[in-house]
Amino acid sequence: MDLANADIAIHLKDLHKSFGDKHILNGFNLTLKRGENVVVLGKSGSGKSILIKCIIGLVPPDKGEIEIFGQNTLKLSPKDMDIIRSKMGFLFQSNALYDSMTVRENLEFPLKRLRISKSKENINSMVEEALTNVGLPDAVDLMPAELSGGMKKRVSIARTLIMKPEIILYDEPTTGLDPITAKEITNLMLEVQKIYNISSIVISHDIRCIELIADRIVILMDGINYAQGSFEELSHSDDERVKSFFL
Ligand SMILES: Nc1ncnc2c1ncn2[C@@H]1O[C@H](COP(=O)(O)OP(=O)(O)O)[C@@H](O)[C@H]1O
Ligand SMILES: [Mg+2]
Repeated sequence: MDLANADIAIHLKDLHKSFGDKHILNGFNLTLKRGENVVVLGKSGSGKSILIKCIIGLVPPDKGEIEIFGQNTLKLSPKDMDIIRSKMGFLFQSNALYDSMTVRENLEFPLKRLRISKSKENINSMVEEALTNVGLPDAVDLMPAELSGGMKKRVSIARTLIMKPEIILYDEPTTGLDPITAKEITNLMLEVQKIYNISSIVISHDIRCIELIADRIVILMDGINYAQGSFEELSHSDDERVKSFFL
């Protein structure tokens, strides 16, 4: 697979997903260019997390295409899909840290799961580098219970970074954080994007976070990419349904 030359990171075409007679995605399209941050904005229950799960391959769409670095992922062999997955990081809203593991063990976990064999020294330096890049160089031996909400989020980001992803999908990264911490995490997302040259899809309805991070905003409504544009454009939209997100 030659992925290096693809300048489109993710291309979603005409995605459909229903649960029974509930049509969640109804022809959703999105293009994420390399190095770009796209925010997907939508009401609660509009299908934002389902969209992310479709991209990761956790939920199969009923119809449509998902291309990642030019590869049609719905037609890839499991082995090739693993290669694509190893280039994508996900940040779930819940952080999904293992409570019984130290920060170090949490960070080592993705390497072990994907059977990436490295020397102990090599793994140690990968853990240290990832933690330093999220501003927590001294947290390596702490347990998740000893971390604040913002620190947990930083450790989750570090765990994603350890795989040197080219794409990160963030599902509501600042929900549940106080406004100051939310801003710090948003700035951290921007910093790591520069250090690692990452393209991101960010699910969020935190207007301050969106304003800082979005190169482009796509509004997911009625199962489609209802509107898109810059923060400036959409916040001044004539469409009341669009404008209501920014009030
Ligand atoms: N496995 C499932 N079975 C049935 N309905 C589901 C399932 N997963 C999600 N849904 C429904 O799909 C809709 C979109 O869910 P979700 O993507 O989680 O919304 P959100 O935009 O808040 O992230 C919701 O109405 C939810 O109840
Ligand atoms: Mg959700």
